[in-house]
Amino acid sequence: MSLEKLLIRQFRNINSANLNFNPKINLIVGANGSGKTSLLEAICFLGLGRSFRTHLSNRVISYDRKEFTLYGEVHNQNITVPIGLQKSKSGETLLKINGLHGKKLANLTQYLPLQLITPESYTLLTGSPKNRRSFLDWGVFYHDQLFYHNWARIKRLLKQRNAALKQCRTYNELQVWDNELCLLSEAISAQRQAYFDLLIPLINATITDFLPGFSISSQFFCGWDKNNKSLQDYLTDNFNRDKQLGYTTAGPQKADIRFKINGLPIGDLLSRGQLKLFVYALRLAQGLFLNSFDNKQCVFLIDDFSSELDKVKQKTLAKHIINSNAQLFITVIEKNNIETLFGQERTVFHVEHGKITEE
Ligand SMILES: Nc1ncnc2c1ncn2[C@@H]1O[C@H](COP(=O)(O)OP(=O)(O)OP(=O)(O)O)[C@@H](O)[C@H]1O
Ligand SMILES: [Mg+2]
Repeated sequence: MSLEKLLIRQFRNINSANLNFNPKINLIVGANGSGKTSLLEAICFLGLGRSFRTHLSNRVISYDRKEFTLYGEVHNQNITVPIGLQKSKSGETLLKINGLHGKKLANLTQYLPLQLITPESYTLLTGSPKNRRSFLDWGVFYHDQLFYHNWARIKRLLKQRNAALKQCRTYNELQVWDNELCLLSEAISAQRQAYFDLLIPLINATITDFLPGFSISSQFFCGWDKNNKSLQDYLTDNFNRDKQLGYTTAGPQKADIRFKINGLPIGDLLSRGQLKLFVYALRLAQGLFLNSFDNKQCVFLIDDFSSELDKVKQKTLAKHIINSNAQLFITVIEKNNIETLFGQERTVFHVEHGKITEE
């Protein structure tokens, strides 16, 4: 899958752009504040239906304008899918996929599998388990068609259970939610575990190149200690505590992936540059997985490629990124040595005060 064309109107400081992208490598060059991240954000909006910088979609509408419009053409195995999205300040959303109105924003994700890497991406390792769950679920979502259904169902069930927790007096009143909850939890955990087991060798292969000499271990935690007791037992035993807290403390909503070096959490030990490389290894592994197991092409949005990385690491990274067989959108402040890293088969875009021109 690749994004071939993109038309932008009134998005951040980009008033108007009409772009034809390279199916492989797109380098986006411009000074601070020129609009590079805004261009990635526009691609992200078309692929996910939301921004990676704000949850308030009004923020991305150009100052003094009433709406933004995006139109893109996604190419997948000789088929082109046109996607149009308009969002207005009044809250109205118009989405047209393949000529059809009335689709939901959630439908967008299947067309453009996006992987985003920004200077803040290290928080995948240092931040809350929620970040790592989203990382994992991204891959399971594309790999296992039944996952989304299970995931959406359990999210609803948990919402209902947590609401019931606040009202009920004895555990028996909750049993009605928990039979289905336990079955779905087992299913989701098995789907996540199966995906993660296949992903690990791909992660390890890249890590040895990025962080030689480090011995890294990884483990999937399903959200409760299976070796200790069943989820049903946790739900029963935790009743009083969960009631007090007002939410369910064991289950797949608490899943995590734990990476360690010599038994210690990775986020406490590695430098910022090393953490960034680790995140690259994780995301590149997912891109390779998508390509080899699921026969889909991933789209990488890489903001500020060179930040925090020395020249040698940039070279190693560029080699891996090119080999990932993904479509790449890479922003840099200065072209300098970047062009030599990414070869000749690429398109360069210059961004200046929101105006984007192809070189
Ligand atoms: N809603 C908006 N309407 C118009 N301009 C905006 C809006 N939101 C942000 N801007 C401006 O858009 C400009 C481009 O921001 P952007 O983050 O894309 O720059 P950048 O090229 O990525 O810069 P850097 O290299 O510093 O990361 C900034 O000057 C910012 O103030
Ligand atoms: Mg930027």
